[in-house]
Amino acid sequence: MHESLTIEQAAVLLEQGQVVVIPTETVYGLGACINNEAAIQMIYRLKGRPSYNPLIVHIAGASAIQSVARDIPDEAYRLAEAFWPGPLTLVLPKQAWVSPLITAGGSTVAVRVPDHPVTLQLLQRLSFGIAAPSANPSNYISPTSSDDVRRMLPVLADNILEGGRCAKGIESTVVGFENGQVVVYRHGALSAEQIEAALQTTVRDAAEPESAKPSPGMMGRHYSPRTKLIMSRNIQKDVLTYPDSRLGILSLTNEYHADNIVRNVRLSPSGNLEEAAHHLFAAMHLLDSLQLDMILAEWMPGEGLGVAINDRLQRAAAL
Ligand code: TXA
Ligand code: MG
Repeated sequence: MHESLTIEQAAVLLEQGQVVVIPTETVYGLGACINNEAAIQMIYRLKGRPSYNPLIVHIAGASAIQSVARDIPDEAYRLAEAFWPGPLTLVLPKQAWVSPLITAGGSTVAVRVPDHPVTLQLLQRLSFGIAAPSANPSNYISPTSSDDVRRMLPVLADNILEGGRCAKGIESTVVGFENGQVVVYRHGALSAEQIEAALQTTVRDAAEPESAKPSPGMMGRHYSPRTKLIMSRNIQKDVLTYPDSRLGILSLTNEYHADNIVRNVRLSPSGNLEEAAHHLFAAMHLLDSLQLDMILAEWMPGEGLGVAINDRLQRAAAL
């Protein structure tokens, strides 16, 4: 059994240039001081993350936004006002001093205020922001509990700040601003509909798996279990296509029965997409531990958080 760090211990480790696992409302993050390039490089090394994929800067509140970003459009302030602390990441022109290691050499920086009491206290205690990607090996399933992190990145077992199970369970929605238009780069725990309602305008979707990729993290395969995963519009039929395979099923509400189904995880028996997002990665971790031949995942309704869930499932299924 590993002891969790206290907030004070986590703060001191970050000040000393160490990497610390932090809880957020979306997924656990692998955090480092934004002013310490050696610590930031350690994040890339620990994750095996390609250097062209930039990191999100976590700050204590919207008032700190100008310390990392400049030329901030009015829509960004309105979204920050409406949704921070919360699962919304804003991509903005960076301040000159922000390390190119954080932005992958680009001129923009991604920033958000996480909605987790422990990490908010930590950020308030620190005199700097925390750069943090999700705390999983690159391309693998994101962690929604500290146990997930311990299993995937055991070297970090002593550097974890415990925060319980992540309430949202799916990453933040990443949004940018191009020529006066709001653009979604990654679907996440805040739905496009919620953003449109707050701004009273339509947003452009640049996050479709097959569209051009303005956001480096949005290429093909990602969020993937080791087990082969296939998306299905008709599970009952597809189950019959693989009679000799040990199958896992990831469905929203339906329960399927067949001799070759080892486990059927229902993400939300009542069909609630927030609940489904909350359970998604834990369900993928579970199914991936059962030595199955294949996971069949049901398409979610293409609205609200169903869009973000389908996005993660499609990337998990990508070859
Ligand atoms: O919910 C979350 O966002 C979690 C928690 C820990 O905050 N973090 C997270 O980080 O998911 P990561 O590194 O796994 O994903 C960050 C995403 C990637 O798709 C990356 O390409 C995009 O944000 N991103 C970061 N900086 C960007 C930038 N300057 N321009 C466009 N996209 C950016
Ligand atoms: Mg990630």
